Amino acid sequence: METTGFTCYRGALYQPLEVFDLHAPTGSAYEWLPDAGLVVNEAGIVVALSAWEQIQTAFPTVKVIHFAENCLILPGLVDAHTHLPQWPVTAHAANTLLAWLEAFIFPEEARYTNTDYAREQSSTFFKALLAHGTTTAGVLLAPFAQATHIAFEEAQRQGNRVVMGLNLMDCGAPDELLSPANTLLAQTEQLCKQWHGAAHGRLSYAWAPRFAGSCSEALLGGVGRLCQEYPLVRMHTHLAEQRSEWAAIQPQFAWAKDYLAVYERFGLVRDQSLFAHGIHLSPSEQSRLKQANASLIHCPSANFFLKSGRFPWQATQQANLSLGLGSDVGAGPLLSMFQVMRDAQWMQLEDLICPHQLFYHATLGGAQALGLSSITGNLQPGKAADFIVVAPHAQQALIPENWQHAPLEIVLSRLIYQADPTWIKQTYVQGVCMYENPVV
Ligand code: GUN
Ligand code: ZN
Repeated sequence: METTGFTCYRGALYQPLEVFDLHAPTGSAYEWLPDAGLVVNEAGIVVALSAWEQIQTAFPTVKVIHFAENCLILPGLVDAHTHLPQWPVTAHAANTLLAWLEAFIFPEEARYTNTDYAREQSSTFFKALLAHGTTTAGVLLAPFAQATHIAFEEAQRQGNRVVMGLNLMDCGAPDELLSPANTLLAQTEQLCKQWHGAAHGRLSYAWAPRFAGSCSEALLGGVGRLCQEYPLVRMHTHLAEQRSEWAAIQPQFAWAKDYLAVYERFGLVRDQSLFAHGIHLSPSEQSRLKQANASLIHCPSANFFLKSGRFPWQATQQANLSLGLGSDVGAGPLLSMFQVMRDAQWMQLEDLICPHQLFYHATLGGAQALGLSSITGNLQPGKAADFIVVAPHAQQALIPENWQHAPLEIVLSRLIYQADPTWIKQTYVQGVCMYENPVV
């Protein structure tokens, strides 16, 4: 094979291969290579991944980047639900979801009519994602076409892989955030035509009705028509985050037997749909989501912050629902997916979520929810080389062994419970280093 232009990254490597079933571990749910060679071609696609000795034999002349012994290569993290325009107002506490939206979020999102502000914040946000080891994100935006366009331009410039679209709202919020349904539908379709699949497929579009409480029936119906017309485009919204949320919006949809029925009525519950939260769902709603092959995105840090309730992890696993994890910034105070994994674990008071499972949902599971699991989520040959290199911060290197010699369960536990953004040494998207930590 012609290997000019290939690069081999050598180091300890962990990746999930499939959903980890705690009750029936198959042994093929993950791969752990204490000394791996990850060969990437000039297009940023993984060509081979195996133990270093095998790579050395198969690719004797390839250029090698050998990471130090305390480094670990992981697939890039996937934050499947986060809000770009809320990054400047994280950690603003309030009593309920709706009170928090009114007090802090809606006023901040209104600032994105200023295109200079929108550009500055978009640039900051996409850089911050990469600095947190997040290579792929499902992003909700401000409700303005120009700010959406700018967000795509900045993601293109910074090198992120994203799934996002114009935030659609025509009621239930201050006037400056609202536009007529017809205007929004025309704008979102136009933006989709321009951006879906751009940057060689790194940028994807999603229809993003904010939640039932900010959408008229005309708007939801229009999104349903777009879903039909564009069967490959994702639909991303919120669902059943707080009991008081549904109590407030139920009168608007008095005919609906439950929250999910609102989205079902307009054709928004399908295999391309992802719903953030889904805490307060009946067994019927859970099984209807499963039947539709839709995905849930669990955002535990945000659920703690807004006191939204405890996500039914076991029921979701038993229902075998597709599940991603999200920071839900700014209801979630941090962009770190390590923190999100930790919070998902801590939220379950009795059941241990196995570290392999958490890593699956923070990588391949999130990629699946976003419709990108054939491209990213792990480092199987043929996929994009989206990966991070982590190294414990010098002051926190508490165990004497290097990663390569430590038991895998300890390695994963230490990452989940101790890693912070200073541990991210480098972030690669499609084989290109998009972030390098100046300190580590
Ligand atoms: N529901 C509707 N809008 C939002 C939002 O911006 N954040 C969260 N967490 N929930 C929502
Ligand atoms: Zn959200």
